[in-house]
Amino acid sequence: MELLTSRQALQEWRRGVGEDLAFVPTMGALHAGHLSLVEAAQQLPGRTIASIFVNPTQFGPQEDFARYPRTLEQDRELLQDAGCDALFVPSVADIYAGSGQTRVQVEPLGSDLCGQFRPTHFQGVATVVTVLLNLVRPDRLYLGQKDYQQLVVLRRLVEDLALPVQVIGVPTVRESDGLALSSRNRYLSEAERLQACAVSQALLAAQQARRSGERQVAALQAVAHAVLQRYGVEKIDYIAVRDAETLLELPEGVVGAEDPVMLLAVRVGVTRLIDNLLLAL
Ligand code: PAJ
Repeated sequence: MELLTSRQALQEWRRGVGEDLAFVPTMGALHAGHLSLVEAAQQLPGRTIASIFVNPTQFGPQEDFARYPRTLEQDRELLQDAGCDALFVPSVADIYAGSGQTRVQVEPLGSDLCGQFRPTHFQGVATVVTVLLNLVRPDRLYLGQKDYQQLVVLRRLVEDLALPVQVIGVPTVRESDGLALSSRNRYLSEAERLQACAVSQALLAAQQARRSGERQVAALQAVAHAVLQRYGVEKIDYIAVRDAETLLELPEGVVGAEDPVMLLAVRVGVTRLIDNLLLAL
């Protein structure tokens, strides 16, 4: 696997690679969820490049940028073993080499849901992904459904700016007890780790209620809320049921013809956990 640690190195490598390039952007601290994106990318012919860049502009001032786990040596081995062709590890100066005046915003979607609690987050994500796409120039972009709002924001970005890349969403990889894999799970204490199960359990309970015929958004939210309470999770940022394609609210608060997705954001201790599940029948 080629390790590319500068813009120049990437550009040189890119010149030798033709079409069918797949791209998996990450912030490192890799786990089986990230590796499933690499695996999905390898299902089609062509090469695969991953990136690791802990993007400062998508963290708020009170967030965990400074203590975000950085495990480059281990990440590199994992990607190498997964058969990834190249790894781009740019510096902040490589990514933000311009005047810094330009921001990419996907609004109002970027201010909704997680955007209400992390006001500049999606602007940071959209901006860095635009820069990365322009540098890497991939044909396919692989993103996890774990960060569902991010996936929808980036689909909109690609569509609205006519970026020449295909966006592919990959299903969430979970622990055996349902907890979605996340680089932030390592912040959880043992007791918090047990509480964290509440998130996937709440989603499953809502899915069950939907399958039993429940169509009222408020009732589906109440089912999820009860599970969170049972586990003692009290800090709930939101429990939302939205149109899975647009993330818009459902008309009249009732599930109609659209596929609904439930999205949850909670805090367990100081750790913010997000997860989601399609509530399709
Ligand atoms: P990061 O949190 O490192 O995630 C990188 C990619 O892995 C994202 O597309 C995310 O949705 C996916 N992913 C994370 N956990 C997953 C899981 N359990 N199952 C499947 N996929 C999972 O998301 C980011 O980085 C950044 O915002 C980034 C897009 C790189 C821009 O900085």
